[in-house]
Amino acid sequence: MTSRIIAVDPFNLVVFGGAGDLAFRKLIPAMYHRHRDGQLPAESGIYGVSRRAMSDDEYRKAAGDALKEHVAAEELEPDVLDAFLQRLHFVSIDVMKEGGGWNVLKAALDKTPNRIRAFYLAVAPELFGTICQMLGSHGLVTPESRVIIEKPIGHDLASAEQVNDSVGKVFEESQIYRIDHYLGKETVQNLMALRFGNALFEPLWNAEHIDHVQITVAETLGVEGRGDYYDHSGALRDIVQNHMMQLLCLIAMEPPAHMDADAMRDEKLKVLHALKPIDEKTANLVTVRGQYRAGAIGGEAVPSYLSEVANKESTTDTFVALKAEIGNWRWAGVPFYLRTGKRLPTRVSEIVVAFKRIPHSIFDTNAGAIDPNMLVIRIQPKEGVKLWLMIKDPGPGGMRLRYVPLDMSFAEAFKVRSPDAYERLIMDVIRGNQTLFMRRDEVEAAWKWIDPIQESWDHSAEAPKTYNAGTWGPSASVALIERDGRTWHDEAA
Ligand code: BG6
Repeated sequence: MTSRIIAVDPFNLVVFGGAGDLAFRKLIPAMYHRHRDGQLPAESGIYGVSRRAMSDDEYRKAAGDALKEHVAAEELEPDVLDAFLQRLHFVSIDVMKEGGGWNVLKAALDKTPNRIRAFYLAVAPELFGTICQMLGSHGLVTPESRVIIEKPIGHDLASAEQVNDSVGKVFEESQIYRIDHYLGKETVQNLMALRFGNALFEPLWNAEHIDHVQITVAETLGVEGRGDYYDHSGALRDIVQNHMMQLLCLIAMEPPAHMDADAMRDEKLKVLHALKPIDEKTANLVTVRGQYRAGAIGGEAVPSYLSEVANKESTTDTFVALKAEIGNWRWAGVPFYLRTGKRLPTRVSEIVVAFKRIPHSIFDTNAGAIDPNMLVIRIQPKEGVKLWLMIKDPGPGGMRLRYVPLDMSFAEAFKVRSPDAYERLIMDVIRGNQTLFMRRDEVEAAWKWIDPIQESWDHSAEAPKTYNAGTWGPSASVALIERDGRTWHDEAA
C-alpha cells in the first residue's frame, strides 16, 4: 500500500526559535520527510530565526546533526539530505528590537511577495504578541501569510484571551493556526473515519447503548528538563485542557455536515459548551490530582517529582483523573472518565468506548460471564482498533462463551510509515486548511471548563495525592471509577 502525495503550492516557512528544541526535534525532521516524499516545491525555503548569530552553513550543519539524531538512518540518503539542507537559511533577529534582522527577513521574503508565508512561533508564548506586532510593523504580513502557534495558549481563560487578542491584532482568525499536535496524529484523525465512515457505530453512539467512555493518556516520561514550565502548569493544564479535551470532543460531537474547518469546530465547540461544570462543591468528588514520588519504571529507579523541580514544596499535579459529563440528549448520564499522568508504568494513549450489557441472557450459567462489548481505539503506541465481542469458545464442551477482540493493528495492516503529527499539520497550514487546528473560541471554552477545577484545587487545603513512579496513579483514581461500579480498562494497565 502506498500513500498519496499531493504537492503543495510554493511557500516559505519561517521558524522563530529556529535553533530550538521543537524546531530541531520535530519541525525540521517533519519538513525533511515531506521533502523526501517529494511534497515540497523546489523553490520553497525554510528560514530559521533566532537571536544568536549563525551563518546559513552553520545552521545547515546544526540542522543536519539534528536530523541524524531524529530521523531513522535508512531514511537519510546523503543526496536527499544535502538537497534538503540547501532549502535552509538562517536570519538572526532580536525580536524585541526594531529594524536589524527584521529588515533582512523582509528583504528575503519580499523577493517573492505573493508566495505563501508561514510564520511558526516555536518560542515562549510571552513572545507571541511581540513577534506578531513586529511582523506587522515591518510589513511582513501579506494576505498569503499565516501564523502558527502552539500551547500553552495562556494558563487560564484571561491569559488565553490576552494571547489571542495580541495575535489577533495582526492576523485574521483565518490566518491563525493553533496547533494541538494530537489532532495531527493519524489515529486521532482516524476517529473521524471510524465514526463517520461507517454506518455501524453511529446508531449506537449514544446514552442508550454506551455505558461510559474512558480516555487515557499515560506517559512514562517525567518533566524532562521542562520543570520550570511544568511546575507552573501541571497535568490538568498541560494535557487535559488541550489534548484530552480534543479527544473528548471528537468522540462526543455530532456528525458535522462536512469536513470543513468551521463545520467541525462548530460541533466540537458545542461539546465543550455542554460539559457540566465541575466546581468547588463537586471537584473533590469527581477529580483526583496526584504527584509522583520516587519509584521505578521497567526496573529503573526514577526520582520523585519534587527532586526534579526547583520548588520543593510544589503542589503541582503530575496526574489527573476526572469524571466528566456532557449535558445533552446524546450523552446524558454517560460518564467520560479521563486520566493522564507522568511516570506511569507504560506509555499509552487510548480511548475505550464501553457499551451496555445485553438486556437478557439466554445462556445458562455454564456459559460463563457475558462481558459488555468494548471498542478500544489505541492512539499510541501500537496504533489500532479492537472491538471486543463475545463468541462461542470453539470445540466441544457445550455452549461456553469467550470474550475476544476483533483486532486490527494499523502497522500490520498498512505497510506505510505513519507520519509524525507535525508533517500533516504544517502541510495543512500551507494548504490553508484549518480543520485540524483549534479555533479561538474552542481554546477559550476549554479554559472556561478547566479554570474552576484548577481554582478549586488551588483553594483546597488538601495536597495532591502521592503515587509511586511506575504505578497507575493514586488509589483515589481507582476509587473514582470503582465507586460507579466500573474499572479502568486493564489492557492499559
Ligand atoms: C505535550 C506536553 O503537549 O504533549 C508534554 O506538553 C507531553 O508534557 C506531550 O509529554 C505528550 O505528547 P505525545 O505526542 O508524546 O503523546
